[in-house]
Amino acid sequence: MKYKILTWGCQMNIHDSEIISGVMQKMGYCPADTLQESDVIILNTCCVRENAERKVYGRIAQLKQFKQKNPNLILAVSGCMVQQPHVVEYISEKLPYVDILFGIKNVHKLPELIEITRQTNLPVIDISGDSRIDENLPIKHTNDAKAWVTITYGCNNYCSYCIVPYVRGKEVSRKPDDILREIETLANDGFIEINLLGQNVNSYGKDLNIPVTFPELLRRVNDVDGIKRIRFITSHPKDLSDELILAMRDCKKVCEHIHLPVQSGSNQILSKMNRKYTREHYIELIYKLRDAIPNIAITTDIIVGFPGETEKDFLDTLELVKAVEFDSAFTFMYSKRKGTPAAEMADQIDDDIKKDRLNRLMQVQDAITESKNNRLKGTIQEILVEGVSKGNINRLSGRSRTNKLVNFDGSEKLIGKLVNVKIIEPHTWSLLGEIVE
Ligand code: 5AD
Ligand code: SF4
Repeated sequence: MKYKILTWGCQMNIHDSEIISGVMQKMGYCPADTLQESDVIILNTCCVRENAERKVYGRIAQLKQFKQKNPNLILAVSGCMVQQPHVVEYISEKLPYVDILFGIKNVHKLPELIEITRQTNLPVIDISGDSRIDENLPIKHTNDAKAWVTITYGCNNYCSYCIVPYVRGKEVSRKPDDILREIETLANDGFIEINLLGQNVNSYGKDLNIPVTFPELLRRVNDVDGIKRIRFITSHPKDLSDELILAMRDCKKVCEHIHLPVQSGSNQILSKMNRKYTREHYIELIYKLRDAIPNIAITTDIIVGFPGETEKDFLDTLELVKAVEFDSAFTFMYSKRKGTPAAEMADQIDDDIKKDRLNRLMQVQDAITESKNNRLKGTIQEILVEGVSKGNINRLSGRSRTNKLVNFDGSEKLIGKLVNVKIIEPHTWSLLGEIVE
């Protein structure tokens, strides 16, 4: 029996799919190469923007023909989308050929749900699920050298545009000993890079009986033998402490990169977004980070067209982008999410204006990214080889400590290893290099 998982969304979702994969393989299922040969197809969905939801609905509609051809095929939908009651209602009514709807916290029940739907031939829905952390779920890692480790689930921040706290629930931290045990096992299994995951890693540990800070956790992870690189996402500017900057500076395994979503450069918009910091505070953090870690790469997320955003607000964002010089930025048009405060705000912005602002923002940022990459020409970067390059099967591809994508010629035997690469041809989205001894 074979399964296929289709994943949308953030790294958290990609990691959840590794757990779903682990559960399926423990049941005896093997990964399928194609949808056609699958006995179970699982869609792990995202709802952070409307576009993501639209793509999932399109995919579910497409999969109807597979169900018609193969009545034994099981179609399951999970992830953030199904945590919204109106989505469950819509799928149950309009897409009744979906066999299983299961919640993010019910992955351990998947074997039981598959069994029920096979026996009864009826759809099953299991969404609720308690917030206790299941420490015993199997994980099928997608990469042999680089592993993702969740440190917190959920989010308490309620940024006014964001659906995540509603679908992923309140913030719950894993115990440091559980996290450390997992990382030690990963190190023994040969993993060399650890990526710590949470919606806001900087608030890690506040909810524990014996509180532990994120910088304290980072220092403990830094002491695990065998691990060579540590990364973490995502940081929230309001919780980024001086203690964290010092830990990043001191811990040699912590990579010189931070993803620090700014979302807007206008104080008026930041306040309406409920972000709880100002542009001045954000810029001060950038100074502190660069002061402590001179070659640090800083990346960000930016939303344009938030309700009430004026041309002046947008220009404040452009100006901040030019002042900070991000290494790269994920840029988004604001997308109205049902149930969030921003969806009810007056002065929603027209799509034409959003598109225009997005284009102008991307032009400015692309030029900065390109110019920053150009400065790397001739430098030697330590690269963790992740696999064969997507654009050219004759090349390898990997990431520098600053998280730049670097392609170069080399033997597949190097996959999973650290190599030194000289940058010979920088581009906007990747760098071309050659291995040096
Ligand atoms: N519209 C547009 N972008 C959004 N993000 C989150 N919610 C929305 C929304 N409603 C963006 C934020 C966040 C990233 C993961 O997605 O920039 O940091
Ligand atoms: Fe959403 Fe804000 Fe939480 Fe990030 S910190 S997941 S943007 S609510």
